[in-house]
Amino acid sequence: MQLNVGITCDSPRQLNAARQLACRLGLPLLTPSVNLDRLTITLVLSAQRLELHHPELGAPLFVDFVRGAMGYRRRQGEGRKQPLARAIGLKGNTCPHVLDATAGLGRDAFVLAMLGCPVRLIEQSPIIGALLEDGLARARKTPETASIIAHMTLMQGNAVDWMRTLNTQDFPEVIYLDPMYPERTKSALVKREMRLLRILAGKDENASLLFETALRCARRRVVVKRPRPGTPLAGPKPDFSIESKITRFDVYLTR
Ligand SMILES: C[S@@+](CC[C@H](N)C(=O)[O-])C[C@H]1O[C@@H](n2cnc3c(N)ncnc32)[C@H](O)[C@@H]1O
Repeated sequence: MQLNVGITCDSPRQLNAARQLACRLGLPLLTPSVNLDRLTITLVLSAQRLELHHPELGAPLFVDFVRGAMGYRRRQGEGRKQPLARAIGLKGNTCPHVLDATAGLGRDAFVLAMLGCPVRLIEQSPIIGALLEDGLARARKTPETASIIAHMTLMQGNAVDWMRTLNTQDFPEVIYLDPMYPERTKSALVKREMRLLRILAGKDENASLLFETALRCARRRVVVKRPRPGTPLAGPKPDFSIESKITRFDVYLTR
């Protein structure tokens, strides 16, 4: 799929906000004079939310921490025994500071924030970042999720560059990495959102650099999410791994 993206809005009332967003992201604002055939991906701003539309992928994609899958997980109140929590090293009442260096749609970070961890999220793709920012803003205004979102701080940019600016005393306790999984041959198996993320994020060419930099900066551990049958990232062997149904968390202790 080709990466052609434009921005539009669903009512004239959103036009100014859509124009500002288009300007910030350096994307065209779609008007009737634009040749829509060229644009395969559309960001649609409504009074409710920012959505990403793609003709091949069915329903629009947006970030929702209040309802949907994340709302369900929040209501279930999955605890500190879940694999991600164990991988991060949550024990007793401890809540390590986590740098989520591959924020994506913020789901893993939200789970960690639900468990009480302060999480800094960094996302390199301005479009994915805009969707995430919109989801965070809505959840911040919702009483059920406001206190969770208060633990989450989003930054737009490249996590490698950001980590390189840190002084030793500012190194995060835990760095969490969820680089794009290796391309599968049967793309129908890859979830709709993951396919879109892959298009928007481009190939994660920098995964090994991200990993190396994280290993230098994490005060306690680096956690890398991998497909359960997949190989670990190239480099040192994980100290241990924690598996869930389809995912494996490789844990590298750094102290
Ligand atoms: C598989 S997704 C992460 C999904 C995320 N864990 C979630 O729960 O929604 C990987 C994301 O990492 C981002 N990414 C990759 N390298 C990055 C880097 N060096 N700095 C910041 N973001 C990066 C990609 O743009 C993509 O959005």
